[in-house]
Amino acid sequence: MPCYLFQLGHQPQISTAEIQAVLSLEHPSTHIIEHQTNKYLFVDSKKELNAENLINKLGGTIKISSQFTVQSSELKKNIVNYLNKNQSTGKIEFSLTGGDKNLPLTIKKELKMLDRSVRYIEPKNTATILHNKLVEKKTDLTIINKDIFVTLAIQPFTEFSERDYGRPGIDDKSGMLPPKLARIMVNLSQATKDEIILDPFCGSGTVLTEALTMGYNNLIGSDISEKAIQDTEKNIQWLIANYHLSAITYHLNVADATKISANLQPVSVDTIITEPYLGNPLHGNESKVYIQKQTEELKNLYLNAFKEFHKILKQNGTAVFIIPRFYFDKNEIIIDIKNEIEKIGFENIPFANPNSSILNLQPLIYHRPNQHLAREIWRFKKS
Ligand SMILES: C[S@@+](CC[C@H](N)C(=O)[O-])C[C@H]1O[C@@H](n2cnc3c(N)ncnc32)[C@H](O)[C@@H]1O
Repeated sequence: MPCYLFQLGHQPQISTAEIQAVLSLEHPSTHIIEHQTNKYLFVDSKKELNAENLINKLGGTIKISSQFTVQSSELKKNIVNYLNKNQSTGKIEFSLTGGDKNLPLTIKKELKMLDRSVRYIEPKNTATILHNKLVEKKTDLTIINKDIFVTLAIQPFTEFSERDYGRPGIDDKSGMLPPKLARIMVNLSQATKDEIILDPFCGSGTVLTEALTMGYNNLIGSDISEKAIQDTEKNIQWLIANYHLSAITYHLNVADATKISANLQPVSVDTIITEPYLGNPLHGNESKVYIQKQTEELKNLYLNAFKEFHKILKQNGTAVFIIPRFYFDKNEIIIDIKNEIEKIGFENIPFANPNSSILNLQPLIYHRPNQHLAREIWRFKKS
């Protein structure tokens, strides 16, 4: 049974939930085994996985590698044999992550003793590996304990940063979702390609543009701000031109999410994926009273929006929704509205965490060090 190693992004729990959401739909025979140091995830699969397709689909995975079967119990010997056979002529170029720090040098020496010309490339980042074409050469190796994994695919990070920094419609004030996180949210929704997806707080349209690059083509975006809708339009047009997309249906409206049923047919939307208004940006010197007042306002906004979501979503329709969590003076302020959302007529669908005795994780938390705001990611189903 092939064993795969997924190298996770900087939010490993979220990456794991995303992998699980995608694999459970597309490859039900896969089985997530365990985490390794919170950086890697082992996955067993009865069938071979198409790593290239998967890496292009996932937002939170940096590398996918597969384990190769070893002949000897000696790690160094196994690597030398592999590299020698893998490329029978010419210069061997390889990189190695994990294992003893002297291992690359020892391997180089042994290969030289076999009359091979060798170059070790330090895997500083995935760009180095891609630049030296080590994925094609099958010589970017990762060692976990005594097991050896060969990299099959690496995240297309230049495309992500092109979409992040190259798009024309930018809103620095409201903040924009990182495209990788938008993609993760689309995957966590488990929406199928024919579904109608709505982002009712679309801002500059990151969720919509990521969904378009993933092959979703029935999209609706709305926002209370006219500028946001203009930015989304620009960004979608930019994407269509740059990615040569065709046969896309999308509708954009200026609309208040708390009155959105005035614009949309009842029971017409399959999936809502959104990062709503998260309040005024915080600088860290706000008073507790100020943050609590803002929290109350956001709570009302979200609950009013959920009442509308209930009207326009189809039965069993999904909403993947971000709720902010604020940090100040070592305190944490959360917006506790799960029960109230459930009372409106939703069921919380937690994200499974394979590596915890607590089976379900709810919510997922996206937090970068030193930020005053974290994003909780929730998934609800209309019940
Ligand atoms: C955090 S931004 C969303 C950013 C978006 N995810 C992106 O990546 O560009 C929140 C958006 O909510 C919009 N907004 C605020 N109140 C709203 C309301 N009542 N209805 C609809 N949109 C609203 C703001 O105009 C802003 O564009």
